[in-house]
Amino acid sequence: MLNESVQIAPSILSADFTRLGEDIRSVSNADYIHYDVMDGHFVPNLSFGVSILRQVKACSDIPVDAHLMVSNPEESVPWYLDAGADVVTFHWEAQIHAERLVNLIHERGARAGISLNPATPVNVLDSIIDELDLVLIMTVNPGYGGQSFIEGSARKIRALRSLCDERGVSPLIEVDGGIGQGNAEEVVRAGARLLVAGSAVFKGDHAANVEAIRAAGQRGLALMA
Ligand code: DX5
Ligand code: ZN
Repeated sequence: MLNESVQIAPSILSADFTRLGEDIRSVSNADYIHYDVMDGHFVPNLSFGVSILRQVKACSDIPVDAHLMVSNPEESVPWYLDAGADVVTFHWEAQIHAERLVNLIHERGARAGISLNPATPVNVLDSIIDELDLVLIMTVNPGYGGQSFIEGSARKIRALRSLCDERGVSPLIEVDGGIGQGNAEEVVRAGARLLVAGSAVFKGDHAANVEAIRAAGQRGLALMA
């Protein structure tokens, strides 16, 4: 079986930026820190860039999963590699030469991911799926935290899983947007193994929320066994 554990990546877009270090330390039981870069062009919102990524890397040993929601990622991917991102994911819809960008990320020793907007079908990855470490399926339209999971996204995750099975590859399948305890089981059963959660983590007891979402995902795995 492929990637048979459920991992959690809290999105610090939903953290309290006035106490970011404390919020990052509060999720030390997570597998990745999800770092949402928004450029106000590819998506209608601005978040943070490389200087804050350097500070995040300095205050935590958890690998950083940089999700670049930016136009022209050819220009900015190297900046995030320089700042220490462990996984760099760019959007299929934003790039022109995906393979060149994936090669660049690999040459610099990081893991490479491609993200698909809700309206982009998985078969666009046909020519490159065997070179990817990760595929990120957006389960909301990117741009904001706290949106509702798009129902029907499980079908797309299953389609990606089928494409991977057909090609004999096993990139990590990540889902992002509106994920929480209520749907973690469903997305894991569909094939996701890395779950991003922002608003569902950064409220109340952050570490307990991470564990609760992970436990819900693990129930999905158990049901498949
Ligand atoms: C949306 C971002 C997400 C977002 C997730 O554009 O890519 O990572 O922060 O937040 P929630 O979990 O609140 O939907
Ligand atoms: Zn994201």
